[in-house]
Formats: sequence, C-alpha cells, structure tokens
Amino acid sequence: MAEEELKTAQTESEETQGYNDVSEAEKAAAEKAAAIEADSVLPPDPDALLEVRHLDKDFVLKKTMFGKPTRLLHAVDDISFKLHKGETLGIVGESGCGKTTLGRAILKLHQPTRGQVFFEGTDIAGFKMKQMRPLRTKMQIIFQDPYSSLPPRSTVGDILSEPVKVHGIVPKNEIKDYVINLMEQCGLRDYYYERYPHEFSGGQRQRICIARALAVKPELVVCDEPVSALDVSIQAQIINLLKSLQKSMGLTYMFISHDLSVVRYISDKIGVMYLGSMVEFGDKKAIYERAMHPYTQALFSAVPNPDPDKKMKRIVLTGDIPSPVNPPKGCKFHTRCPRATEICKHVVPRYKEYEPGHFVACHLYPQD
Ligand SMILES: Nc1ncnc2c1ncn2[C@@H]1O[C@H](COP(=O)(O)OP(=O)(O)O)[C@@H](O)[C@H]1O
Ligand code: SF4
Ligand SMILES: [Mg+2]
Repeated sequence: MAEEELKTAQTESEETQGYNDVSEAEKAAAEKAAAIEADSVLPPDPDALLEVRHLDKDFVLKKTMFGKPTRLLHAVDDISFKLHKGETLGIVGESGCGKTTLGRAILKLHQPTRGQVFFEGTDIAGFKMKQMRPLRTKMQIIFQDPYSSLPPRSTVGDILSEPVKVHGIVPKNEIKDYVINLMEQCGLRDYYYERYPHEFSGGQRQRICIARALAVKPELVVCDEPVSALDVSIQAQIINLLKSLQKSMGLTYMFISHDLSVVRYISDKIGVMYLGSMVEFGDKKAIYERAMHPYTQALFSAVPNPDPDKKMKRIVLTGDIPSPVNPPKGCKFHTRCPRATEICKHVVPRYKEYEPGHFVACHLYPQD
C-alpha cells in the first residue's frame, strides 16, 4: 500500500465518531505538560505536611541492549493531593491499581519517575539517598505481613532498640526505658522485651512492627494493608491501636487498604485509585455520601450500609481490569463503566475540583 493510502487508512481507523485518538492523546499530553509546568513553580501549601503533584511511577519491563526502555508499566499516573498534619488519608482501589507503589514512591522507596513530593514544604522527589537519610525517621511504613517483616533471630528489645540507637532518638542510657514505654503504648508487655518474634501471634507481631515504625518518632506513617493478613477478630484491635497512637503522637497516616469498611472507620480523606490514576479524592463524608465517579459508586455500593434509608443498589462491575502496560485510551475505566459514552473512549477526563477539596476525573461532569 502506498504511504498516502496507508496514512488515510490509519487516520480513518483512529477517527471514531469525530474523535481522532492520536490528536486526543497529543492534546492530553500537551495539557498534562502545561499543568505540570504551571504547578511546578507554585510554592507548596504551608499547611500541608505532604503535597504530591503530578506524581508518576513507571516500571521498566523491557529495555534495549543500550538501556533504552521499550516497555513501561505505568503504576502511578499523574497523581496530585494534599495531606495535613494529624489526618488519615485512606487509599482504596482494586488489587494492582498502584496503591503500594504510590506509598513507596512518596517515601522514596521507589524513585518517582516524574512529579513533585513536598514533605514539610521541601520537594524530596529528586533527593538522593544521602539527602533522604535525615528524613527517614520522619517517614515510616508498616507492611501488610508482620510474619516476614521482623528479623527472626533478634529479640523484641533488640528490634525496637536498634532504630532508636542508629538515629540517636534518646541518650544511650535511656534507650531501654524508652523502648519499654513504647511497648506499653503499643499494648506489649514489658517481659516481651527478651522474646523472639516467632513466639507471638500475628496481631502481637503487627504491634511490634507498629512499635518499630514509631520508635523513631515519625510524622508520616504509610500503613500498607496493615490488618489484611490478620484474623478479623484481631483487626479491630490493631486499627484502634493505630487510632489511639495517632492521637497521642500527632501522627499523619496514609492508610492503604482494599477493605472499605476499615477505610471508612479510620480515614478523614479518601483517595480512590484505578489503573494508576486517582479518579476521585475528597473528605470521607463527601466520598461516602456523594460519590461522583462511577468507579467509586460501584466500589462503595458493595459495602453494607447500616442505615436502611441510605441503602445503595449494588453496582456489579463486569470485565477484567485492563493492563497498566497498555491502558485503555480516553478514560481508563471506560471498558468497565456502566455509564460510558463515546467521548469516554477517546478523551481523557480532566481531574477537577467540583466542591472544595472534592476532586473527580469523569466526563459526566463539566470539563471546562
Ligand atoms: N517492582 C515492580 N516492577 C514491575 N512492576 C511492578 C513492580 N511493583 C509493582 N508493579 C506493578 O505495578 C502495578 C501496581 O502494583 P501495586 O502498587 O503493588 O498495586 P496495589 O498495591 O494497588 O495492589 C501492578 O500492575 C504491579 O504488577
Ligand atoms: S469518564 Fe466516562 S467511562 Fe470514565 S468514569 Fe466517567 S462516565 Fe465512566
Ligand atoms: Mg499493595
């Protein structure tokens, strides 16, 4: 086929009902670049402990022999939000949507690909390991699996004393008292000090992990599914412990979970993720009572509501979650959305603030 004919055929297949996917993609990329540039010169919000702007994290799946990436997985795609001191932000979404990667990129356990991460007003996105060292105590993470995250050959006392010693949190002669006190605050008996992790149940081990994270007096704690591996009967105890420690220590949490009942209980704000993007973000009340995005509506329709007047009709999502390597064009949710229209298949919806602090990315709402 001649080059001209090929071009025409290509354009025809890309043009559907007046939309040209190539030019829509170019427009979206140009809009994103302009927004990044405009936002990058704004000063950080002095009231926010954490401010994330246009954060991307791509994983390179394949590269050429010269190191040029040829296959990327977009795990976190253009995420922006603010979190204030003492608040809990719940991050929800199906498995694989990028919750853990978002948490790890913020803590710089993954190097962000693009974007800004302001912690206490400083953009740490480009910080090198050495620059991060003094910040490590301020930002901690609690993992899902308390079984694999504790060293088996160290006593609880050693596990908790080590970070206190390394970071000089208290003078040497006060370390033991400091650790025993911390153990008490985390519901651990003082005689556990000499014991080993394998002697404890999952719930007790998670208390040890929490104590270890808090031993260095952090400001921000990313809790990555901290109760998902525990018996249901233990989950409430750990959640309540996290809540009371937050109050007594003035902690700020990013609480990642796929359990919407847990998130509802613990969060002040909620961010809903789908295929690496934040599709809705807002105060808990706004998200639970006035969810705007069809994905949020579907997710939350599955949570039992104790108030019979507020019972929602269950929205069942069909279809598989697409691959983040090759996400659908336009709105990434259009392949599963019960309210999708033609525009959704071609044009990326803008992430916009529709009421103070309530952000949504969906064509059902005005885009300009
Ligand atoms: N180190 C990695 N290398 C390549 N892909 C990864 C890596 N970590 C996570 N991913 C991929 O990134 C996407 C998001 O993963 P993750 O952040 O773990 O999701 P979630 O925590 O929401 O389940 C998934 O498709 C996952 O397979
Ligand atoms: S933009 Fe369209 S496909 Fe996406 S959530 Fe909104 S209605 Fe559904
Ligand atoms: Mg995860």
